[in-house]
Amino acid sequence: MLDALQPLPPDPILGTTVACRNDPNPLKVDLGVGVYKDDNGTTPIFRSVLQAEQRVLADQATKAYVSPPGDARFISGITRELFGADHAVVTGARVGAVQAPGGSGALRLGAGLLLRAKGDTQLWVPAPTWGNHIPLMGAAGLDMQQYPYYDKQTHVIEFEAMVDTLKQRGPGDVVLLHGCCHNPCGADLTREQWDTIGDLAEERGFTPYVDFAYHGLAEGMDADAYGVRMLADRLPELLVAYSASKNFGLYRERTGLALTITATADGASTATSQMANIARELYSMPPAHGASIVGEILDDEVLTADWKAEVGQMRERINGLRAMLSEHLRTATDSTDFDYIAGERGMFSFLGLSPEQVTALQNDHSVYPIPSSRVNIAGVTEENVARVAAGIAAVR
Ligand code: LMR
Repeated sequence: MLDALQPLPPDPILGTTVACRNDPNPLKVDLGVGVYKDDNGTTPIFRSVLQAEQRVLADQATKAYVSPPGDARFISGITRELFGADHAVVTGARVGAVQAPGGSGALRLGAGLLLRAKGDTQLWVPAPTWGNHIPLMGAAGLDMQQYPYYDKQTHVIEFEAMVDTLKQRGPGDVVLLHGCCHNPCGADLTREQWDTIGDLAEERGFTPYVDFAYHGLAEGMDADAYGVRMLADRLPELLVAYSASKNFGLYRERTGLALTITATADGASTATSQMANIARELYSMPPAHGASIVGEILDDEVLTADWKAEVGQMRERINGLRAMLSEHLRTATDSTDFDYIAGERGMFSFLGLSPEQVTALQNDHSVYPIPSSRVNIAGVTEENVARVAAGIAAVR
């Protein structure tokens, strides 16, 4: 039976890292998958994570299953960081939450919940959006649609076109928004634009679904949460998929949280029970390790302060790399065409190259964006930046 199946090409994001790994050139540069890297090109384990992990291992008395909704300290800690401890949705017990295997697992639980609420839900995602949004949530059964978001040639948010499309949405429609550090384009909504989306959601009655995978990496923990908190202030319903992969560096531990805001506390219990049941159907129970570490950090003021300092250093370094890369591209191309990179946020920006130009950059210069020409800015270093800029200038 299984010999009826055909092999598939590599995933565009994960396959780029494999292609780079197979390149024998010692000067190759991997700008593919979104993992943070330091000046030596390694993805370090956070100090706070190491410390918390030692405590978790020392205190661990069992490997029995965690409860279906997940680690209680992880859930309350992330909820606090996301909305603020005094937010009305927290004090009013209007937050439903289930721990999930990574931000992707959280997205999938939210998709399942939407389908149970309304079998023909349309989920509107930005164009462009993370390459796995449509496969992941489309495979769950949602009707996936796209709204205009970013012009890859002019590098601006197409806000008017976005608003025009969202004006036509209504109750029962769901609109996915990137909380901050838009993946793949790095262009985030301003506060004013977030407010306009809040107005539209109130007027039209659609439900926002915020993918929040880079909390703290754009402007700061509170500043980055502006949009999601504002929506939670104003709307009766909201979904959030939270990832601890990047801001705790816990990629392989698959640490995420699916959250809902509902009009009432009863609604929150219902959403939690439904999401735990969806998890039971899919993989039964969440993994423990990453969530225990995050719970340990967020339950301790000293560790929390140290973790926030580490996130701050990561953010400042990425923003510094953005400035450095755009400066080198100014020199290499004798133009201001890449100045926009300095003003975007998070790990990603588009170079605006064609797939053929990306192939040439990979084959002739050993510089590896993904095929859409998205680059992981955190893969740039002081040592490789001149080579990266020269390669881009040569192929464009
Ligand atoms: C990325 O966009 O590179 C990351 O979110 C990792 C992934 O799973 O695609």
